[in-house]
Amino acid sequence: MSTLPRLVTNGAALRQASTNLLTAAGNGSRLGLMPTMGALHEGHAGLAAAMRSDTDVTIASIFVNPLQFGESADLERYPRTLETDLELLGDCGVDLVFAPAQGEVYPDGRPMVTLQSGPLGEKFEGAARPAHFDGMLTVVAKLFHLAWPAVDARYRAYFGQKDAQQLALIRRMVRDLNFPMEIVAVPTVRTDDGLALSSRNRFLSGDERDAALVLSRALRLLVGRAERNEPLDLDSAVALVDSQPLVQTDYFDVVDPLTLEPLAFNCRETPFTGEGLALIAARVGTVRLIDNMPLLGGQSSPVLNR
Ligand code: PAF
Repeated sequence: MSTLPRLVTNGAALRQASTNLLTAAGNGSRLGLMPTMGALHEGHAGLAAAMRSDTDVTIASIFVNPLQFGESADLERYPRTLETDLELLGDCGVDLVFAPAQGEVYPDGRPMVTLQSGPLGEKFEGAARPAHFDGMLTVVAKLFHLAWPAVDARYRAYFGQKDAQQLALIRRMVRDLNFPMEIVAVPTVRTDDGLALSSRNRFLSGDERDAALVLSRALRLLVGRAERNEPLDLDSAVALVDSQPLVQTDYFDVVDPLTLEPLAFNCRETPFTGEGLALIAARVGTVRLIDNMPLLGGQSSPVLNR
């Protein structure tokens, strides 16, 4: 049985604990942070394992951020599973878990000054969830600061490629606002039959789960065509998803991985070269799922990590 990570609930205790561990690890050691909202699953275990393997001191934060929820009912319904989360993080060898109360993160209540995600935050998921990404960026910036190393250390934060727009926005925030740290993208963890792991999968019936597999199948179709430098023929991939009666597509596009601007090319006739990202969101029954895969013209096993 693995040991549980040390649980801290305020910024001062987090700073003290990480300083002790970093000092013991020696000068110039690496600090990893993995922000989460809890309800952890094997996808998060993949993130934690990546963080564990390339940093010396590891922190996972668990905080259900009210600023990124539209309806207060959704915020209340969000699963809180601290005990099992701690076990999963302990199994992954995470050193510290930072699980602050709302008053620790927002001591003056709702902040008067917040970050704005701008045009990159308004499309795709942002169109379906107004202000979601502003709230997400605001809390991520706060968590970066709360966990900031107090001694000389290289600072890295880990995010899943599954939430591609969130990842693109965080990269942009770090670049545009000069956060001296590195963002590491961890590839999406999937079941053997291809379903991207998500805390929402638990709400799918058996038939809906089978139907949901069409999302990764359609994305794989595009990955294969890109690898072979063939035209992507996005329309045929969209038609494949549309042929599944339980699935209603919200968006399905091929975009620039950093700006999420749609790639301008003749997708039927021009062989795919370069780099892209295929993004899909769909409702399967009542459950909204998102997925994406990186496309690399003429190359296999693409991993986006810039
Ligand atoms: O992806 C999540 O779980 C959240 O959006 C994050 C990054 C922890 C911010 O609350």
